[in-house]
Amino acid sequence: MNILSPSILSANFAELGNQMKAVERGGAQYIHIDVMDGMLVPTISYGMPVIKSIRDITDLVFDVHLMIIDPIRYIKDFVDAGADIITFHYESTNDARAVINEIHKYGKKAGMAIKPETSVEAFRPYLNDLEQLLVMTVEPGFGGQQYIDYCTDKVRNTRAMLDMYGLKTDIQVDGGINIATVHHALDAGANVIVAGSAIFKGNIEERTRKFLEIMG
Ligand code: DX5
Ligand code: ZN
Repeated sequence: MNILSPSILSANFAELGNQMKAVERGGAQYIHIDVMDGMLVPTISYGMPVIKSIRDITDLVFDVHLMIIDPIRYIKDFVDAGADIITFHYESTNDARAVINEIHKYGKKAGMAIKPETSVEAFRPYLNDLEQLLVMTVEPGFGGQQYIDYCTDKVRNTRAMLDMYGLKTDIQVDGGINIATVHHALDAGANVIVAGSAIFKGNIEERTRKFLEIMG
């Protein structure tokens, strides 16, 4: 079963609680929460206090995407704030293993993300220890960008790599996903779909339903 993870980066924050309820009514399984530090990526988004304040609104899985340098410093804080899955960037640390261990120490699922220019080979040493592999399909930092076509092959190669080892790890895609581009990612083997502007810039509940319908 494919999973939809609407990214609240494109939500109206004055209406955040209601908008999360709308994706929940639409049937989404996760909420994707993008944390940016202005260092790994050019902009700053939001952090623990926001996550804490929305934790009580829904039981949906909090899928936290950390775009921050040296994420190990803050894993415990994100766990305390209510994260269920924590995905960090391969490019953000020189000890990915330690970050994965830190996430697992608190009983949470660990994900690793790669930017468009990073090879999928980055995943290989950690395949047995990760619950989610995030193949970015835009340069991280902003919502509303265009899907990068060459990233479809990266998704396909990641799925092939997992198959080779007999692993069923989740493959997430994030960036530029809409009703037209989602097929590329699904056909290539992604099973966790992030969508921000395609869901929040319109009738949220309806768009969530529509996504889930075509995701099968
Ligand atoms: C971008 C973030 C995404 C962003 C996606 O760096 O990681 O999660 O919200 O937005 P869309 O779906 O609009 O490309
Ligand atoms: Zn994201």
